[in-house]
Amino acid sequence: MNNVTIEETQGRIPGPYMEKDMPAHPEDIVMSLSGFDVLMMRFECAMLEMTTKLEILNEELKMVSDDSPITSIRSRLKKPRSIYEKLMRQGNEISLRSIEENLNDVAGIRIICAFVDDIYRIVDMIFQQDDINVIEIKDYISNPKPNGYRSYHIIVEIPVFFSNAKRCMRVEIQIRTVAMDFWASQEQRIRYKKNLPPEKADEIAEDLKSCADTIAEMDMKMRAIRDKLG
Ligand code: GTP
Ligand code: MG
Repeated sequence: MNNVTIEETQGRIPGPYMEKDMPAHPEDIVMSLSGFDVLMMRFECAMLEMTTKLEILNEELKMVSDDSPITSIRSRLKKPRSIYEKLMRQGNEISLRSIEENLNDVAGIRIICAFVDDIYRIVDMIFQQDDINVIEIKDYISNPKPNGYRSYHIIVEIPVFFSNAKRCMRVEIQIRTVAMDFWASQEQRIRYKKNLPPEKADEIAEDLKSCADTIAEMDMKMRAIRDKLG
C-alpha cells in the first residue's frame, strides 16, 4: 500500500461485502459443500419437530378453551443463495461449520395469531418446554423497530434424534398477528423495490410507519372487542 493515494485504492481494498462482488452462481458454491444436503435435512427435521410441538399446543388449547391461538404456521429453509449472502455480509467463511455456527435462521418458523395476547401465551408455553433451549429473545412488539416493524422473535435450540445421534439444532421462530404479518410482507416488498427516488422512499417509509401504528392500535381494539364478548 506504499505511496498509493486513497483515491487510487478505491474499489480495490478488500472491504465489506458488496452485492456486486457476488459470483454468478453463489448457490452452487454452497450446495457443493460436502455434507450440505445432510445439514439441510437436519434443519428440515428440526423445523418439523418444532412445528409438531406448536401443533400439539394448538390442538390442546382448541379443546380446552374452544379457541385456537394459532391461525397458521409457516416454515421455510433458508435458500443456498441467501446462506451465501448472509455469511459474506457477516464477513464469515463459506463452510458447513460456519453455517452451523454463524446462522441462526437456516430453519425458520412463522406463527401467525389473531390477537397479541395469543403471541405471549404461545411464547410462555415455548419457554416452559424443558427440552427447548432459548438462545435469544427479541420482543419487537414491546419495542417496535423505528420503521414500525412488530413481531416477537425467538432463537431456540431443540434436540432432534437421528438414527445414531442426538443433535441440537437452531430454529428461528417469529410470532406475529395477522395484521403485523400483512404489514411486514408489504414492507419487505417495498424495501426490495430498487431505484426509488430518495424523496419518494422517505415518503413511503413515513406512510409505512403510520400504517404500522394504526395496525397496532387496531390489534388492541380487536382484542378489547373480543374481551367484551367474554
Ligand atoms: P438478520 O436481519 O436476519 O440479519 O438478523 P438480525 O439479528 O438483525 O435479526 P432480527 O431478529 O432483527 O430479524 C430477523 C428477521 O426478522 C429478518 O430476517 C426478517 O425476516 C424479519 N425482520 C426483521 N426486521 C424486519 C423489518 O423491518 N421488516 C420486515 N418485513 N421484516 C423484518
Ligand atoms: Mg435484521
